[in-house]
Amino acid sequence: MHPLSFEESDRLPIEKVFRDPVHDYIHIRHKLILDLIDTKEFQRLRRIKQLGTAQYIFHGAEHSRFSHSLGVYEITRKIVDMFERNYPEEWDASMRLVTLCAALLHDVGHGPFSHTFEKLFGTDHEEITTDIILSDETEINAVLKRVSLDFPNQVASVITKQHTNPQVVQLISSQIDADRMDYLQRDAFFTGATYGAFDLSRILRVIRPYEGGIAFQYQGMHAVEDYVVSRFQMYMQVYFHPVSRGMEVTLDRLLYRAKQLYQQDNLYPTFPLLDPFFNETPTLTDYLNLDDGVLLTAIIQWCDSKDAYLSELSNMFLNRKPLKSVTYQKDQDEDLVETLRSIVGKLTYDKDLFTMTHSSSDLPYDYKLKSKTPILLMHPDGTLVELSEASPVVRTLGGRLQGDDRLFVPKEFLEDKQTHINMFQDEYDDFQRYILNGAIIRPTPIDEGADE
Ligand code: NI
Repeated sequence: MHPLSFEESDRLPIEKVFRDPVHDYIHIRHKLILDLIDTKEFQRLRRIKQLGTAQYIFHGAEHSRFSHSLGVYEITRKIVDMFERNYPEEWDASMRLVTLCAALLHDVGHGPFSHTFEKLFGTDHEEITTDIILSDETEINAVLKRVSLDFPNQVASVITKQHTNPQVVQLISSQIDADRMDYLQRDAFFTGATYGAFDLSRILRVIRPYEGGIAFQYQGMHAVEDYVVSRFQMYMQVYFHPVSRGMEVTLDRLLYRAKQLYQQDNLYPTFPLLDPFFNETPTLTDYLNLDDGVLLTAIIQWCDSKDAYLSELSNMFLNRKPLKSVTYQKDQDEDLVETLRSIVGKLTYDKDLFTMTHSSSDLPYDYKLKSKTPILLMHPDGTLVELSEASPVVRTLGGRLQGDDRLFVPKEFLEDKQTHINMFQDEYDDFQRYILNGAIIRPTPIDEGADE
């Protein structure tokens, strides 16, 4: 069936709404969208928090991937409705359903504490998202096939950016897409970090389709500028928070230890839901059985593990006592990092389990890389200009890599000496010689020829 004729037959008799703290109401007109929300794969997103370990710093940030996904859908719906009204020539109305479905499903492959989990177990949430859409075994696939047998492929091709319509792809995935617009607003709202807010309504007024993709009317430049600045501030203040990264590192090391013990046939208590991941042979069903609750239950059990390291790391994570960090200069301080790690290793700590380096970096907006779609402004005469050319603020902020490199160590090494007198005094003093104001310092070279 042609998407347009399907769309008409699929209309709900009465529009359905979900109440949302960020967008007020989320409006659903298609039965297809409602049925996708009701699938077990999509309902699972209720049990996965959007911000992972950042909730341990910003306690309000308990919102789920479910609410974010509905938000991305709603922003996309508003844009598509506006395009249909105002740009019937430039926008292909038959793209409506595929765009809305891709918006709703773009994160359906996320797992618990995704970034940490993926690194350790080699899973990839984008690949899993397309697997869920394409697999015969999922409810999502069955719902999508009602449109046509090929429809799951079309939705998946938006996620993989291979869809032939660049407008559809850029709405879901670009440097200013519905995904980012929702998570910046939502994360700002739930963390309480109000500087993450920007004028979404204005952006949704000035966004427009053109032949090559998506652009913004020139007079809306300051709203787009504000979005880039908000994005920068959210990365610096929330996403790269050093304590949040400390929780990530602690989780990483504890899962690493569990995997190590499993492979030595020595993991007690066992946790069968994670076995396929320790074995590195997970199926899609194994993956869909995971959520935050499953992972936390494993960690609660391991708090009493007879392995002292696993028990210690599990307690640290569960009770929010993460490894702490100092910054260092990558490329210059690698030797110093090794020195500090071996000082930690001289004590009861295993240095591979209780120290770790972690780097964060992000370009608030990348206009130098040809691989990224630039943000374009459109003059009334139709000519396009790249955002950083028009905006000095974006030019200053955009091209520079933001973030830092940190070495994480047990907190005792970075606490005031008075709090643990007599505890590994020599190693503590030795360690402190390399630290100043939370950063590793390079020893000043001795100038042999200097006068007294
Ligand atoms: Ni997302």
